[in-house]
Formats: sequence, structure tokens, C-alpha cells
Amino acid sequence: MKRILDIITEKMQQAFVDAGYDASFGRVTVSNRPDLCEYQCNGALSAAKQYKCAPIQIANAVVAQLDAGDYDLVEAVMPGFINLKLSGAFLQKYLEAMRTAPSYGAEMIGAGKTCVVDYGGANVAKPLHIGHLRPAIIGEALKRLYKFLGYNTIGDIHLGDWGLQMGLIIAELQERQPELCYFDPDFTGEYPKESPFTLSELEEIYPTASSKKTDPVFAEKAHTATYELQQGRPGYRAIWNHIMSISLPDLRRVYDSLDVHYEKWLGESDADSYIPAMVADLKDRGLAVESNGALVIPVAEETDKQEIPPCILVKSDGSSIYATTDLATMVQRMQDWQPDKMLYITDKRQNLHFEQVFRAAKKGGIVNAETELEHVGHGTMNGADGKPFKTRDGGVLRLEQLIKDMTDFVRSKVVENKIVGDDEVEATTAKIALAALKYGDLSNQPTKDYNFDLERFAAFEGNTGPYILYTIVRIKSILAKYGAWEHLPISTPANIYAKDLMLAITKFSPTLENALRTSSPNLICAYIYELAGCVNKFYHETRILGEENEELKAGYISLIGLAKNILETCIHILGFSAPEKM
Ligand code: ARG
Repeated sequence: MKRILDIITEKMQQAFVDAGYDASFGRVTVSNRPDLCEYQCNGALSAAKQYKCAPIQIANAVVAQLDAGDYDLVEAVMPGFINLKLSGAFLQKYLEAMRTAPSYGAEMIGAGKTCVVDYGGANVAKPLHIGHLRPAIIGEALKRLYKFLGYNTIGDIHLGDWGLQMGLIIAELQERQPELCYFDPDFTGEYPKESPFTLSELEEIYPTASSKKTDPVFAEKAHTATYELQQGRPGYRAIWNHIMSISLPDLRRVYDSLDVHYEKWLGESDADSYIPAMVADLKDRGLAVESNGALVIPVAEETDKQEIPPCILVKSDGSSIYATTDLATMVQRMQDWQPDKMLYITDKRQNLHFEQVFRAAKKGGIVNAETELEHVGHGTMNGADGKPFKTRDGGVLRLEQLIKDMTDFVRSKVVENKIVGDDEVEATTAKIALAALKYGDLSNQPTKDYNFDLERFAAFEGNTGPYILYTIVRIKSILAKYGAWEHLPISTPANIYAKDLMLAITKFSPTLENALRTSSPNLICAYIYELAGCVNKFYHETRILGEENEELKAGYISLIGLAKNILETCIHILGFSAPEKM
């Protein structure tokens, strides 16, 4: 559907033309004086210079040409502003069109396009920690936003499953159990189906091995093991398979609990087979060059304000690095999916890495000139005190523990306030806790740091996820008492609160588009916070179910029904959902 601003701008342009002036002066903007009007046009002021007459004269002439039925207020005021308030009839028509349009009239800006969303970035064999929360939450929301606006989306977790951590585990395991067949180079039998370690053992093996990285002998062993694994040594490959089959279900379980779902569980290992041909090709075409024994793609540009070092493709010892796998992954994605865009969500400390990789990909022709590459570098989640988030003993908090802390806190409120019957406590708690966690994060601009504040995020009042859920639940309960409401048409606003609510609803599509264009799910949060505020204001100022005039009542119900649908659509995009009771 057309945006309201575009509709009234077109009408304003026509009015300028009809009054004998150029259409270009007819641009309408949202009012910066909401106390006076909803929209305004300042074109008469600029037109006055060109036509050499008083701006108010032009404004008056233009106003005379406008269709009064569209506006409750349309006036020319000194020195030449045109102030507008939309009429109830205009809003009624617009919202009725929204109500019945697919996706509530949102513009399908992604129709026919494919976008790969690379987010999460979990590392196999290491438990998820709080650093993994933001890329998962932001990535899932952006992916859902792209999908809602018509893109074919492919979410890929891009597992860290091929690096030194694998070699560290192999080396540690060898020190502990050198007799295992995996370490016997002459072993020709079948490797056991059963893993030599459990998940909890693996969770202990990795940090132990990692802490030994400073021991040069052990580090050497781990590097060799990594290299041999990547060269395909069968015993190591078998250990790798065990690590994967133990680690992946656990990762999946935690992501599931966050309602974060991937279409593809590919990883660095899947990119490996694309590396040799890619490197050879870049070398042949003279794009990758030797530098101190390494093979690099120079990516510096004259306009750079800060030095951008070359993108390293192959290190002097012959091994590939993080950038190599990212480039090879692009080769795979272009071959298999031909995406129009690749969107990456990681910590902003990786900004330089992606700058180098994107430049190398364009320069090396790994992606097409028109393939869009975007990196969203998110900020850090700190503790409530603004300091880096640490456990009591100074360690890194596991993501699961954070989710559990939030869930426990919310559960105590749900139980204390007797919100639902015993058998519904867990399901309701999970929904509220997820909303608290996700909204607490997503309401911040992704690039900024924020402080995690359990009590504030979980509050049922204020700018929080639970408040949004509460508003939805309140509407649902009114609708349930009314009965069938889905087919009731929108009426003209009965009071100013209804009108404010209607105006807020009209911002749905522009908000989503802005959020996508700027990779800012926080704009959707701000929007639903405003919308929920309008709903609650309307609710407090209007007798809804108590209204005796059935026609009026039906109009109220259809309006809050549409508001509920829009709120639910938005929270679905953000990645959480509302319970039935709260
Ligand atoms: N595994 C990486 C890390 O822990 C994140 C991966 C992000 N995605 C990517 N395509 N590089 O830092």
C-alpha cells in the first residue's frame, strides 16, 4: 500500500499544479508541531521566491484546491505554512484497506530477492556464552524482517567448526587416552560409533586444553592436529564427527529455547573444499599476491582514512585463516543460492575483518558487482553496573544460565501474582521471559552497548517486552468477551484517542521499511511501544464493552483488533510471542 505521506504529498502536488505552481513544491512532512497539526507542507515558502509573491498568497490558493473531505483541518497560516489534520473518513478508509490487505499493506520490497543472513556464529565444542546472545537475537529479528518484507531468506549459523579448538581437543584427548584407535596411524578398521567422551566431558576437555595454549609443546601438537584434521587424517576426522554429533544437538537446544532457528547449519568446515580452487583462481588472475611468504589480497583504497591491511588468504605456513573460510563460504553461497544480498551479524570488534573480506570478495569477483554485502557490528551487553558481564568467580556467564536466571525471576512473578493455573506456569513464564530478554536487547540500537538489567527488562510496566505482551493480552481478553470480531470493518474514529491510535497504526509499513534499511530492529520496538501506549490510552478513556450503541462498539472492537494484529505481527518479527493470560 502507498504510504500516507506519499498519498497526501501527491494530492498536495496536484493542488500546487491546479493553483498554477510547480508540483515540486508540494512535499508534505510529518508535523514538527504536533500540537498544531499532524502533517505540514512548507512548499509555499520556497515557491514564493520563484514566483515572487507572498508565500501566504500561494498557500491560500493551494489550500483552496485541496479536497476538504480528506482533512479535519487544512489551513494556511502565516507566513505561508499549510497545516493539515487528516479526516476521520480518510483514516477509516486507509485502515480498512490495511486491515484487508496482505501483510497489512506492507510494501514487499524484497520480492524476488534472496538474502543470506549469517548470524549466531557459535563455535562447536564450546558452550554458548552471553556473547552469543546478541548476534542470535538481532540476526533472527533481521531475518524475520527481511522475510516479512518479501525476501527469500536463508539463515546460516556459520559454525566455527574447523579451527584450532578442534586441534586443541584432539591433542588433549591424545594426552589423556593415547591408546585410542583414533591416534593409531596404522589403524584400518572401522572407528567406534560411540563417542569416547560425553557432552559434559567435552565441556571440560576444551577449556582445559585451551588453558594449555601457552605451553609451546602442547600448542605445537594442537596446531599439527588442526592441520592434519584439515588434511583429512581419518582418525582425527572421526573424532571431529564425534565432537559435532555431541555438540550440535546441544547448540540447537539452546537456540530453540531462544526461538532462534536456522535454515542452514553450515560451518567453516563446509567451506574448506572451496578453498583450493578459489585460491588458485585468485592467484592466476594476479589478484592474490605474495607478501612476506603469505598470500594476500591488497584491499587498501586511496580514500581510506585509516589503514586497511591486506586480506590474508594463506598464511606463510600454508594454513588458511578466518578470512579464507569467509571468502570460500561466499563462493559456496553464490554457487548454491545466488543471493542478492549477504547480511552478517557479529560483534563490532569484527568490523575490520568484514571490511577486508567484503573488499576482497568484490575485488576478487567472488560475488557480483551488484551483490550487496552488509555487516551489522553489534555492541556489547554489559552488566547492570555498566561493567563487563562476569560471573561471581570472574568467568564468562553461560547463555543458558542467563536464560535460566531470567526465567526463574519471571516465574516467581507469575506464581506470586497467580497469573495462570499451575499447569500453565511454565509455558507462560517462558513467553514472558523471552520477551523480556529479547525486547531488552532489541530496543537498543544494535551498534550501541547496553546494560543487562534483569528486573528492569522483566517489569510489566515501562518500555519492556512484558508491557507489550500485557497490552496484547488485555486486547485479546476484550476481544474474547466480545465474540467474533475478525470481519468487523474499521469505522471513523469516535474520539481523539481512537484517532491517535489510528495514526499510529498507519506507521506500520514505513517503520518496517526504515528498520530494514537501517538494520535497526530498535525502530520496531519504539513503534510498538508507541502503539501500545495509544491502545492503553484509548482503553482507559473509552467504555469499550460497556458501550450501548452496537455500531460504535463494533468500531472500537475492530480498531483494537487491528492494533492487536499489528502488535502481534511486530513481536513475531522481533522473535517472541504473547501468552493467552498475563
Ligand atoms: N565463529 C565466529 C566467532 O566466534 C563468528 C562467525 C561469524 N560469521 C562469519 N561469517 N564470520 O567469532
